[in-house]
Amino acid sequence: MSCPISAVSQMLERNQALFVGKRLLVCGALEDDYPRQLATLAQSLTVFTTDYCYYRSQQAALGEAILFDHQLGGAPRFDALLLLMPKAKAEAQYLLAMMTPLLEAGADLFLAGENRGGINGADKLLAPYGDKPIKRDSARRCSLYHGELSKPVAPFNLDSWFGRYQCKAGETKLTVLALPGVFSAAELDLGTQMLLATVPAMKGSLLDFGCGAGVIGSVLAKRNPGLKVTMVDINALALESSRRTLAINGLQGEVHASDVYSDITGSFDQIVSNPPFHAGLKTFYAATETFLAKAPEFLRPHGSLTIVANAFLRYQPILEAHFKRTEVSNSDAKFKVYLSKV
Ligand SMILES: C[S@@+](CC[C@H](N)C(=O)[O-])C[C@H]1O[C@@H](n2cnc3c(N)ncnc32)[C@H](O)[C@@H]1O
Repeated sequence: MSCPISAVSQMLERNQALFVGKRLLVCGALEDDYPRQLATLAQSLTVFTTDYCYYRSQQAALGEAILFDHQLGGAPRFDALLLLMPKAKAEAQYLLAMMTPLLEAGADLFLAGENRGGINGADKLLAPYGDKPIKRDSARRCSLYHGELSKPVAPFNLDSWFGRYQCKAGETKLTVLALPGVFSAAELDLGTQMLLATVPAMKGSLLDFGCGAGVIGSVLAKRNPGLKVTMVDINALALESSRRTLAINGLQGEVHASDVYSDITGSFDQIVSNPPFHAGLKTFYAATETFLAKAPEFLRPHGSLTIVANAFLRYQPILEAHFKRTEVSNSDAKFKVYLSKV
């Protein structure tokens, strides 16, 4: 089934002569089937995504042409890069630093995105790699910039991209490592802080759903020796951050990609989460609603789910419909912590 393509892709479509015959690398905020069209125009196409949800939606059609990871390495082999502007500028900088060593000298650099998403800062983003890019097109509140790789590129050094901070959740101190654009990359979220101050001692197994930089799973692993921790997220940068956060604190845990429960097998004694939300974006609500409604299927008898959410989000009726007991175990003007038991 084909879905409508985004405004950015519609603008790219009318400029697609630029991609004909290229060895093209595409990355960034991918959201539709348009890369399949590019595959028919380019000499070769590689799509790199950090979004597991997008990867799963395109994998059957693109096969080995789509890769999901936090990093892509190897020798220079592409002569064009198309970066779809991610929400966080720091993530765009990260992707450019990682991708440009894979480009041959003189390669085309294309940056496309919505005007409200910061695409008009493309000049500054591309400045370390080439001379002033030109604006190729502007339509449907989107813009396409085109530059050329004309400056020498440094090898990509993943380690230098991790932000690091110390946090204290209750009595537990933790060092957090996070790649650009990962939730709570610079400081502990206030909701997560309230959740970690509320959640009781635990044993057995824990699923940290939507682990971000791995704060919840790591703090609970540190507080509860012997706890078997599994962390999942859809974001490859989050997953690598969680692995690093565990490692730097000397903790153990299993970390892997999952779109809600797509890659979860088995069941847990506890699920703890600060689940994804974004006011106005239905997809996030849908993922979180499925996460809450199906949680009992992934919990052992007497298992519990503890989540924190913005007080305005109406999760209580969903929890009450799917769990035997639900209580608000902590709250303030902004957040509520819900504890539900199967
Ligand atoms: C509010 S953040 C919480 C991060 C971290 N647990 C913390 O408390 O700092 C929610 C996380 O859920 C992840 N996420 C979004 N949609 C998801 C999905 N469908 N399946 C799994 N994780 C998802 C996001 O990438 C993000 O890292």
